[in-house]
Amino acid sequence: MTIRLDYTNMMAPPIDGAISPAEWNEVASSFAAAHDAVAMQHQDGTLGFIDLPDDRALHQQTLDFVARLREGGAYPTDIVVLGIGGSALGPIALRTALRAPQWNLLDAAARGGEPRLHVLDNVDPANITALLARLDLHTSLFVVTSKSGGTAETMAQYLIIRARLSATLGEQAAKTRVVFVTDPEKGALRTIARAQGVVALDIPGNVGGRFSVLTPVGVLPAALVGIDTTALLAGAADMRDRCSSSDLSGNIAGTYAALQYLADTKHGRHIQVLMPYSDALRDMADWFVQLWAESLGKHRVPGDAGVGPTPMGALGATDQHSKVQLYMEGPGDKTVTFVAVDEGGADVEIPRLHADIPELAYLGGHHLGELLDIERRATAGALARRGRPNMTLTLERVNPWHVGGLLMFLELATAYAGQLYGVNAFDQPGVELGKQFTYAMLGRADAGKARAEWELLPKSDPARVL
Ligand code: PA5
Repeated sequence: MTIRLDYTNMMAPPIDGAISPAEWNEVASSFAAAHDAVAMQHQDGTLGFIDLPDDRALHQQTLDFVARLREGGAYPTDIVVLGIGGSALGPIALRTALRAPQWNLLDAAARGGEPRLHVLDNVDPANITALLARLDLHTSLFVVTSKSGGTAETMAQYLIIRARLSATLGEQAAKTRVVFVTDPEKGALRTIARAQGVVALDIPGNVGGRFSVLTPVGVLPAALVGIDTTALLAGAADMRDRCSSSDLSGNIAGTYAALQYLADTKHGRHIQVLMPYSDALRDMADWFVQLWAESLGKHRVPGDAGVGPTPMGALGATDQHSKVQLYMEGPGDKTVTFVAVDEGGADVEIPRLHADIPELAYLGGHHLGELLDIERRATAGALARRGRPNMTLTLERVNPWHVGGLLMFLELATAYAGQLYGVNAFDQPGVELGKQFTYAMLGRADAGKARAEWELLPKSDPARVL
């Protein structure tokens, strides 16, 4: 079992402006300092995500809750995660990676009796209305996930669901159809849980939203739909232990962070693409985009020009017919990280039909998994041939152990990259003003200052509206 990173195509000709040995030596010493700083923050107790694979008590909260539900006999048919951002993207990525394709469209037998898993991740009324029209509230369980316990979108989703549940099932039963995942001490969800006896699982205080997939944020929905969360956490622990060295050559997440940092800051590769060649890993790209963007796009000091790469997700081979033209011939401002899978599971042979038509005949006898993998290698080679830097991350297979490893790999890489850029990867002050303006427009009592600031903004000029 392993995850490998091949970064040959970042370093060597024919890559334009490949990372030079001198740059690599220099970043190796910056990385040693970055690694030590991350280790120090971890020792201080501020980087809780690193300890999650070993937190048996926290994992047990989830296992006990799920076991109680299973023993209760009325196991839900539908799990609905209410949340947004870091509280939603992890559950979506885990469902897509570790449950059968089209999970929610399968019948109960094909799902092995496990429930469907829906994740809202927005407040678009059309989507919520459509979901509510399909759900049986008597057999659905709602997992309300918010670290802060007060995010406007998630609270709005919750209020709608709670009112529906109360109207349909009555107040007492409604309480048993919701479970909260939130901070152990603070926030509105914790207050409601205490006051009303709603079950609430913990997101440790020292784990922030986008680093929380290995807390009940991701682990509870995963366990509820039958994913092996013990293997998920074991894979994450293995990757964490692989990244204990401050020597770049022995630290896979450090190597990835250093490559991306150098590519961005020394070679103008400001856009960094994660491109899995596996439908199962497609939503992992969205999860990575949030992690990389919200963690690294920052001011180093207030008011400076700001730093940080722009992450982008893509899917192979689909996006070979969409974005790859841009990667090949557009501005040379990108790196592409391909994600490959060694053993893709049951393959499908392409039939030998139309042997007299050359455009089809060459496909016969090959397999779809083989085609996908050859296309990935061809695209990586073509990019390298055009001087475009790329690297390949390979998972032996897509199972809980490797997915846990991949999540930890990207989280650690983000922590290291934060140190290399000189920013705090664990806050998100840039989203605060928009939130305050939202509160102001919705009339929240404590938003007077934001309201005043909002009023000062230029009004829309009719002369500039077409
Ligand atoms: O990474 C983050 O901190 C954010 O993206 C949050 O996950 C998102 O804003 C939701 O916050 P909360 O979990 O507090 O509702």
